[in-house]
Amino acid sequence: MKKKTEDDLKIECIRLQDELYITEKQPFMPNIYDFPDVYDAVLRAPIEQIQVEVNSIQRLLTEQDITKGSILELACGTCGHGTLLAQAGFSVTSIDKNPNMLESAQRRIETAGVKIELIQANVVDFNLGVGGFDCAIFMAETFPIITAYEDIKNHFQCVRRHLKPGGLYIIDMDAQGRIRAANETGIWGEKTVQLDNGYVEVWHEDFPGDWVEGINRLVMRCRIHSNDSVYETTDDWSIRYYSPWLLSLLVRTLEGWTLKGFFSRRDLSQDIEEETHYFTVLEKAS
Ligand SMILES: C[S@@+](CC[C@H](N)C(=O)[O-])C[C@H]1O[C@@H](n2cnc3c(N)ncnc32)[C@H](O)[C@@H]1O
Repeated sequence: MKKKTEDDLKIECIRLQDELYITEKQPFMPNIYDFPDVYDAVLRAPIEQIQVEVNSIQRLLTEQDITKGSILELACGTCGHGTLLAQAGFSVTSIDKNPNMLESAQRRIETAGVKIELIQANVVDFNLGVGGFDCAIFMAETFPIITAYEDIKNHFQCVRRHLKPGGLYIIDMDAQGRIRAANETGIWGEKTVQLDNGYVEVWHEDFPGDWVEGINRLVMRCRIHSNDSVYETTDDWSIRYYSPWLLSLLVRTLEGWTLKGFFSRRDLSQDIEEETHYFTVLEKAS
């Protein structure tokens, strides 16, 4: 097959955007990750919560006798966890697929006066050319957006390849109470959030899930008013439904992992019944 030139790819991209316009009857829509300052204001956990999570990550590592190891941060966004871990003396490499988020992460890292290697990569399929990490983290309940089983399997293989034997993989999971409760469509969570140079209107919409696939659909929309301009974003998330029991089953289908358990991200208690988030902790089996 003839190799595609850069011009071929540009034409294909324009064609796909046109098709999207025709089929969806709306122009190509940016998402919130294209506006990192809006992400930080609207979606990112407060820094105090991130600090609590980082403390728990450190405790889990200390139990493995790791106090100053290497950490791979997946889907780092603006790098809240990575920055605090680097300040605590860990060597951090962070990946994300969105270049705007990585640029913003770079600014945060420079302000904090730490060094972190930032790499643009897809969590479903990545090879950083380095390995032997002591730990990988996937925070902010982002893991369930990998919905297809083939992608989930590939993701775990990629993470495993980058860890040392015995390395930990810590995944922050949303307890998904809202999904359990959402049996009807509708708009919720309307709010206005102040920005340094304007404000943003935010609202969410639930759509019927696919029970057979175990997937729910949530759309978040933002209207950003900034310096006399208005921008709109749409995030259309398919989210796989998980419970600790479903996660245990998933791990059994994957090769080379041991499930260490489910822990409160606040105090590592194993009583997670009332938690809105919890850590799923896996270990790379040798
Ligand atoms: C909810 S944010 C979480 C950011 C950060 N971990 C935090 O705690 O604030 C989700 C991030 O995942 C990134 N992302 C989504 N899908 C991805 C993928 N397939 N590969 C890499 N990054 C991805 C987005 O660009 C975004 O920065």
